[in-house]
Amino acid sequence: MPVLVDINLTIREGEIVGLLGRSGSGKSTLLRTVGGLITPSSGTALYRDRSMTGPPEGISIVFQSFALFPWLTVLGNVEIALDALGIGRDEVRRKALSAIDLIGLDGFQSAYPRELSGGMRQRVGFARAIAIEPVLLLMDEPFSALDVLTAELLRTDLVEMWRDGKLPIKSVLLVTHNIEEAVMMCDRAMVLSSNPGQIIAEIAIPLTHPRDRQDPLFQEVVDRIYSVLTKRKVESITPSIVGIAQVLPNANVGPIAGLLEALAAPPYNNEAELAELARSLSFEVDDLFPGSGCA
Ligand SMILES: Nc1ncnc2c1ncn2[C@@H]1O[C@H](COP(=O)(O)OP(=O)(O)OP(=O)(O)O)[C@@H](O)[C@H]1O
Ligand SMILES: [Mg+2]
Repeated sequence: MPVLVDINLTIREGEIVGLLGRSGSGKSTLLRTVGGLITPSSGTALYRDRSMTGPPEGISIVFQSFALFPWLTVLGNVEIALDALGIGRDEVRRKALSAIDLIGLDGFQSAYPRELSGGMRQRVGFARAIAIEPVLLLMDEPFSALDVLTAELLRTDLVEMWRDGKLPIKSVLLVTHNIEEAVMMCDRAMVLSSNPGQIIAEIAIPLTHPRDRQDPLFQEVVDRIYSVLTKRKVESITPSIVGIAQVLPNANVGPIAGLLEALAAPPYNNEAELAELARSLSFEVDDLFPGSGCA
């Protein structure tokens, strides 16, 4: 199954690029390819003009799930990233403490992840990622496991540090489901379609920081991205027959029974266009029958 097709993406110095798309569109796959964790089955992923044979030095990732080692302290979790660089012990300690300080965790060096709130855990994730002073920082939905206010605080802190040139980073690629988050933080947003993932829009966000959600221009960009993301492509779907080679998605019995009932009742009487049925049930066709365009 091709996940990504025809991707042409360049991340330039000095910019934060947002990557948006529906669940399963291939955002994480693309982010991991950019990070050298996945080798593309065709085409090339270049880092500073050289093709990658694994994760290169100079790229780090912040994960949605924080991905901290529970048996290491905050300091240990940050130092472990620096240890991999093969620099001296003192240098490791100095850089780790400075990242911890910068990211607002001063005083928590000796705490274990279980002793921290979610927001603080993700701050450790950020400290670990920036401690190695990466050229490119990759973030895969870094705020989505946090409550609204904590996420907002962390976002604002990061944008401020970025704007003030305090972060030792040249560029950022941010994967997010949250359109407002992208418009709040990014210089441009790339939108991926699903099945297969293709870049269907590149939207510049030429707003100055600090950005204001109430600003009509802000809302205009949000609306533009929203309309690209939710564009109904029902007309462009080519009907095909479901063969036995196609794996059907898992579904519960209840919703299937409901679907059959709706299909059996008038006005359909056992036969319906999938797109029409989806519309009458207020579903996106992709949600009603993921990965398919067939009736
Ligand atoms: N290791 C893998 N092996 C095979 N298929 C995979 C693998 N990882 C992801 N996929 C498939 O690639 C597609 C894209 O997955 P991906 O995780 O990149 O989506 P996503 O856009 O990040 O979704 P979400 O928003 O839910 O995180 C999915 O169909 C998924 O099943
Ligand atoms: Mg993902």
